[in-house]
Amino acid sequence: MNTATPTEFEFSFLEEGFSARDIVEQKINESSMSDDRDAFYVCDLGDVVRKHLRWTRNLPRVTPFYAVKCNDSRPVVATLASLGIGFDCASKMEIQLVQALGVAPSRIIYANPCKQVSQIKYASTHGVQMMTFDSEVELMKVARCHDNAKLVLRIATDDSKAVCRLSVKFGAQLKSCRSLLEQAQKLGLDVIGVSFHVGSGCTDPETYTQAISDARYVFDIGEELGFNMNLLDIGGGFPGSDNGQLKFEEITAVINPALDKYFPADTGVKIIAEPGRFYVASAYTLVVNIIAKKVIMDEESGSDEEDEGTNEKTLMYYVNDGVYGSFNCIFFDHAHCLPTLHKKPKPDEVMYTCSIWGPTCDGLDRIVEQCNLPEMQVGDWLVFENMGAYTMAASSTFNGFQRPDINYVMSRPIWQHVQQICSQGTPAPAEDSYFFEVPACCGRESNLEVPAKPCQAHVV
Ligand SMILES: Cc1ncc(COP(=O)(O)O)c(C=O)c1O
Repeated sequence: MNTATPTEFEFSFLEEGFSARDIVEQKINESSMSDDRDAFYVCDLGDVVRKHLRWTRNLPRVTPFYAVKCNDSRPVVATLASLGIGFDCASKMEIQLVQALGVAPSRIIYANPCKQVSQIKYASTHGVQMMTFDSEVELMKVARCHDNAKLVLRIATDDSKAVCRLSVKFGAQLKSCRSLLEQAQKLGLDVIGVSFHVGSGCTDPETYTQAISDARYVFDIGEELGFNMNLLDIGGGFPGSDNGQLKFEEITAVINPALDKYFPADTGVKIIAEPGRFYVASAYTLVVNIIAKKVIMDEESGSDEEDEGTNEKTLMYYVNDGVYGSFNCIFFDHAHCLPTLHKKPKPDEVMYTCSIWGPTCDGLDRIVEQCNLPEMQVGDWLVFENMGAYTMAASSTFNGFQRPDINYVMSRPIWQHVQQICSQGTPAPAEDSYFFEVPACCGRESNLEVPAKPCQAHVV
């Protein structure tokens, strides 16, 4: 395996002692010198690598196939490709993207149960064999258009406690699995396993246990019919940051015993997953600038000062990215985005009831309906953390507002670690303290503590 160069990955190195947060500061300082205060992202590719180490430590039996739909930016996909993981692709374009980075077809699962015929043909001619299905019609299309498909039956889950439900659209009910498998048999197709997705943003780890047990039930039917069932795909649904109600480790503590019970290691079943949000959410910080502001006096807004516990005016801030751009996650991903302030407020600073709006001419374009913030001015900056999942992947340039630039960074030790994995083909054991310690200057928990020091990162 060849080693890759930073140039291929299009990122800057972080010098020792500096963090992605320092790059945020540096970019804000640079932009503040000019009138050109465009919104921008900083993406810490090292965070993506750390997530991978966290994955391998907590789910040692499960090979991740990153869900490209979540964030298809090339440096992220290239970093994950060099770590040797697989990819969940939902379309021809996603297959093209990962194959252009040298990913072998065996590391791709075409995990879209409802595929366009021409795209099934594309998968066939490009060697992609693993693909999901959940209906008879899909089986017939695959039988016609693919010479060598290895099919994975997607089953529905109880995703009622997930933030984004997927089983309303995909997944066969358990009662129809036998007839689907019989149909596959009649068509001479090769079914190799079962997949499921518990819904994105899963809040109940027991959903995985039930789904793993259901998958066992379908495996048994498949084996009874003579299929060589050797793949279990436990989908996505893992949290992207530690801010939510459920930590990754709380989920894996439930998944591992369920896997050992229903799919013990000695059965030889290969277990994969399709994490999306887990790998990328916390790597991205979005920085937006206040481009306009309105002050509404309380008589005007009709609010009751004493009831609200706030002051005599409310403030409307307009910033240069909105729901047609990165904040589409508010609609599509049910996200609640709250900013941290770039300028540290004074301890006795007066707070006002505020709303935050995107830059387009649409009244729907509202990022925060109500929050308390100090009075800020046009030209001030707001910082949104954990913005890597389902944000720019679905953003538009509606009204002529361009997507923010993304500044990719990685520390040298993490880059060296990636190179090591890349050249050896297997993950080297991670020095936990080296990779997991949050640098003192990082200030992740509160951007108000970041020291103002010059950043020494440079573009390679
Ligand atoms: C088939 C499939 N796999 C994986 C994912 C990724 O899910 P998550 O981001 O919750 O890990 C999705 C998300 O919609 C999906 O539809």
